[in-house]
Amino acid sequence: MTREPRVVLVTGASSGIGEATARLAAGRGDHLVLLARGPVALARVAADCDALGASSTTVASVDMADDEAVRRVVADAVARHGRLDVVVGSAGVVAYGRLQDVPAEVFDGVLRTNLTGSVNLVRHVLPVLREQGTGSVVLVGSLIGHIAVPDMAAYVLSKWGVRALVRQLRVDNRDRPQLRFGYVAPGGVDTPIYEQAATYGDAVGRPPFPVQSPERVARQVLATADHPWRGGQTSAANHVIRFGFTTLPAVYDRLVGPLFRVAAQDLLREVVLGPGNVLTSRQEHNALRGSHGNAVAGIGRNLAELARRRKDRP
Ligand SMILES: NC(=O)c1ccc[n+]([C@@H]2O[C@H](COP(=O)([O-])OP(=O)(O)OC[C@H]3O[C@@H](n4cnc5c(N)ncnc54)[C@H](OP(=O)(O)O)[C@@H]3O)[C@@H](O)[C@H]2O)c1
Repeated sequence: MTREPRVVLVTGASSGIGEATARLAAGRGDHLVLLARGPVALARVAADCDALGASSTTVASVDMADDEAVRRVVADAVARHGRLDVVVGSAGVVAYGRLQDVPAEVFDGVLRTNLTGSVNLVRHVLPVLREQGTGSVVLVGSLIGHIAVPDMAAYVLSKWGVRALVRQLRVDNRDRPQLRFGYVAPGGVDTPIYEQAATYGDAVGRPPFPVQSPERVARQVLATADHPWRGGQTSAANHVIRFGFTTLPAVYDRLVGPLFRVAAQDLLREVVLGPGNVLTSRQEHNALRGSHGNAVAGIGRNLAELARRRKDRP
């Protein structure tokens, strides 16, 4: 190891991108503070992190929407380690369905975890970092924080909010030039978030092409902690989609529905309507990776399914 271990706090650490970030920091010998709601999945990741070489691993079962609970967890982490070096906000949930079909508590639940949860995190780590005069916050947003897509209103609004939050933090903390505020916006990543999503529509979501690994995004997250300019979009495809959204709005709005159906849904999976993990953890489904397989093959299967449905139409 070429540097002192850092204290790295990760939210959403029991699955997907947060788990990959925890594992990467563990391999670098850092001290880890891992947050999520489900304690069993957290314990699994903590054991892996210890085996990977973390200097120490502590876990806290907390709902990021609960401001007082987040305050306590941050205070405990500072009491234990004396400081925080890198804080990564990766806790997130998704709901699919038309705005009027998603129950209000589920819609609000997405906003509470993704946006209010990010604010709660920042509210309690910021005084610590400002007092230290150094440290980094990296929030995981999404390509969807730059565009609109069908039937994901709560998620779209939450991720536009996360992007705004990062910019706001940069403006508000100009008097602490050594603090870093990073932002990473993935497109499709192979994690369980799609299977975990609340669903109130006629299809299940899937990560759209090009699908990146959670480890690839985690590398960018930790690079962004040291060099915020390395953040932003995680793939060239994100830039193309944003370009279409911004410069050709009429074309974008017309095409996004059919393209979303083919590339970002799995038309062959059974639809199970319900809140998924939005209101409570379903930690038994948390894992480093998801289960949707090859995205190009998925598009092929969707096209075949649409052709079959068209043929069967009376
Ligand atoms: N996967 C993608 O394609 C993709 C693309 C763009 C952006 N993102 C963003 O990347 C981030 C990580 O997503 P992921 O794909 O890694 O998802 P994931 O595999 O489903 O992991 C989500 C993590 O957040 C935790 N979590 C959920 N709600 C929480 C709450 N209220 N309080 C505390 N922890 C909570 C989950 O554990 P518990 O349920 O046990 O709490 C889990 O550890 C999210 O912000 C997501 O929006 C993902």
